[in-house]
Amino acid sequence: PVTRLTDYRPPAWLVDHTRLDVDLRDGHATVTAELTVRRNPAGDDRPGELVLDGEHLELLSLSVDDRPLGEPDYRLEEGRLTVPGVPEQFTLTSKVRIHPESNTALEGLYRSNGMYCTQCEAEGFRRITFFPDRPDVLSRFTTTIHADRAAYPLLLSNGNPVDSGDEEGGRHFATWDDPFPKPCYLFALVAGDLACLEDSFRTASGRDVALRLYAEHRDLDKLGHAMDSLKRAMAWDEQVFGREYDLDIFQVVAVSHFNMGAMENKGLNIFNTSCVLAHPATTTDAGFERVESVVAHEYFHNWSGNRVTCRDWFQLSLKEGFTVFRDQEFSSDMNSRAVTRVENVDFLVNHQFPEDQGPMAHPVRPSEYQKIDNFYTLTVYEKGSEIVRMQHELLGAEDFRRASDLYFERFDGQAVTCDDFVACMEEVSGLDLSQFKRWYSQAGTPLVTASDRFADGEYQLTLRQETPPTPGQSDKQPLMIPVKLALLDDQGRALPLDDSGATETVVILRDSEQTFRFPVATDRIPTPSLLRGFSAPVSLRYPFKEAQLITLLAHDSDGFCRWDAAQRLYFAALARIIDDGEDAAAQLDRLTPVLEQVIQRAGEDPAEAALLLTLPTETAVGDRHTPLRPQAVHDALSALRAGLGEALAASWWRLVEELAEPEYRADGEAMGKRRLRQVALGYLSAAAGAGRGDRDKLVAQLQGMLDAPTCMTEELGALRALVHNQLPGAEPALAAFAQRWRDEALVMDQWFAVQATVPGADTVARAEGLLAHDAFEWTLPNRVRAVVGTLVNGNPSAFHAPDGSGYAFFARALKKLDGINPQIAARLANGAARLQRLEPALAEQLSAALRELRPAASANLAEVLDRIL
Ligand code: ARG
Ligand code: ZN
Repeated sequence: PVTRLTDYRPPAWLVDHTRLDVDLRDGHATVTAELTVRRNPAGDDRPGELVLDGEHLELLSLSVDDRPLGEPDYRLEEGRLTVPGVPEQFTLTSKVRIHPESNTALEGLYRSNGMYCTQCEAEGFRRITFFPDRPDVLSRFTTTIHADRAAYPLLLSNGNPVDSGDEEGGRHFATWDDPFPKPCYLFALVAGDLACLEDSFRTASGRDVALRLYAEHRDLDKLGHAMDSLKRAMAWDEQVFGREYDLDIFQVVAVSHFNMGAMENKGLNIFNTSCVLAHPATTTDAGFERVESVVAHEYFHNWSGNRVTCRDWFQLSLKEGFTVFRDQEFSSDMNSRAVTRVENVDFLVNHQFPEDQGPMAHPVRPSEYQKIDNFYTLTVYEKGSEIVRMQHELLGAEDFRRASDLYFERFDGQAVTCDDFVACMEEVSGLDLSQFKRWYSQAGTPLVTASDRFADGEYQLTLRQETPPTPGQSDKQPLMIPVKLALLDDQGRALPLDDSGATETVVILRDSEQTFRFPVATDRIPTPSLLRGFSAPVSLRYPFKEAQLITLLAHDSDGFCRWDAAQRLYFAALARIIDDGEDAAAQLDRLTPVLEQVIQRAGEDPAEAALLLTLPTETAVGDRHTPLRPQAVHDALSALRAGLGEALAASWWRLVEELAEPEYRADGEAMGKRRLRQVALGYLSAAAGAGRGDRDKLVAQLQGMLDAPTCMTEELGALRALVHNQLPGAEPALAAFAQRWRDEALVMDQWFAVQATVPGADTVARAEGLLAHDAFEWTLPNRVRAVVGTLVNGNPSAFHAPDGSGYAFFARALKKLDGINPQIAARLANGAARLQRLEPALAEQLSAALRELRPAASANLAEVLDRIL
């Protein structure tokens, strides 16, 4: 069944109050729901028939205003309950039995490591009780939980605790009341025996908020970073967006079994352990950054998502795109803005662009879906964030803030649309954003082609735009594309662009082709620094000369353009190897002086240098060559990496030695140094793996880091270098690491992932072995992602093994998973999205493997397979 945006109708019934009573017992739970229902005055005039959603529920009793109903009084069909003949206003009481223990889909109420928890977004609440499960029905929730006191001393739900006490048989109860009406997807409940890190935050208006972070007792020492991040996020949202927290208590619970990163349930966020737990001994620097950004993201949803929510799921980006923008800005303010921007752009370009150019391409505001779970995508989140960022740039920081204030004020307590958001931007700024709004409805990555000429002291820049057709959307309209730019002279100095002396400007491309003129005082054609800050999510084509790229890399003041120049140099060198049959060695003369320069200046900003010195991934390179020949890409990259490792060995060793820190430090500077040091070790290891350089010295260095690591970043980095380059000692190191960390699930996830990402076809057999490992669990999404996800999405030379073994592995895993957790299966299936780009022999094998899955596929998996096949 397809759901369409154009079919939206306001809800026929409203639920003013929801009183839930959840009785948790061994083997099952009983949920009694008392709904205060009234007809929606703004709804369509339809007969007095109430329709509620409900799945996997065993109905025990149902009554309207205390009048018990029997079977002809209601109809129970697949996924819904219909009660005809209801009055204009009534109380509906239902009692259902559910089975959290056997819920492996991790939607609704389920168990994870002995605790009960919930995940309701998008449509999980219907697995807890009968309800109008749609985001535009906002209800006030009062929730009572009953459970065994010894096993579940802690009983949590949304809002404020209002009552609690003992019950017969060693049981107890707690009642929570959430004063803010909310859609049911924001409902949450937790019952368990958990440790708590407690702190408090005083809001701008002087209210004290209790902050409570919960995790398993063994993880209590891993909550400090999340707490610090949370307090910083609360202060930042007050300062930058004027948003203050609204309840007296804010709680976060860490859960091992979780489909996504985290969930913003009102006052009771639930997190994947991987996004909240952090300790230097067990968590890499990248992990620390992720915790900071996800904690902030979920906290920011309290306004962008909860106080103002979505009218329907097509509007998902209203809350997700905006909240990603907010968390990216937060991370930029907490860390290096330039580095954060490059990381965000790198992620968008190398993950969202392929999605937007493949079979899953869809608009940021999709127009139809079968399972909404399949649309929690990089397009909705990351491209959605870029659309908000463009509005921020178009309006300027001040007007953007005024517009966001207006948005929050006007729509507080309502469920609204992306149009409502843009309308606030227009109203405050006076801008006409009607053309701009095509960004929400038009799928695909726009291609902007730039060409230029220099005549009569005038620099003329011609920009053309074209968005290639995407599935179901063949005709594309011109978009409004802001292109920020500067012009650099031979020495890399930015030229004044007009009489005011400004050296940077934004031109707005609206038509399919436009020419912009700049009277610049120079006699040579300048080097254009285009799309500064990545001012629009487009793919830019311009025939850069190598010398221009080197100028940009060395002198451009814009961090994105420096990084982009380095990327273009790498992609060009790889294209010469892959397409023109040149030798990798032939590229070294051209690249080593460039890299040498970056290394020489690395002290200025080690983190940025690390980004500039990192070669694109096999996946990124593969996406730039048609047809996709994964083995050729792998060979070219390996040869280039090993060559650069050897040619620049002295510099890499100097970095390894200079950047070594005797003791762990957590600050940004230390993190930047570690990052650059890992890059240097990566190059040296690649050379050593190819039998070049001083292999013994390198292995001794890596062994030393493994034996006495200062932190997980070093320890895991050394392990990866040994294992990925099949250096002596790799296997014993893996065994020792597993021995040391077998009780730390998140570290073991890394141990699995390191092995599943060893480049080369042999890794498929290794991964089969990992699936058979004692510590592998199909019901644990993090573990499945660590083995299957990383191989399929991060290891093309294994996934696309010429004998088809990678595809067989993939298909078996999907089949197994689909029976356990369809959301996770569907998500993994996206790994096949490059099917149509593959060289024919591989494409045929992959499609045969997938076709076999189709007949028995879940609705989630089927939707993805049908788009790909
Ligand atoms: N709203 C959550 C976030 O912060 C994600 C929830 C995703 N749930 C799902 N079933 N796909 O982004
Ligand atoms: Zn979110």
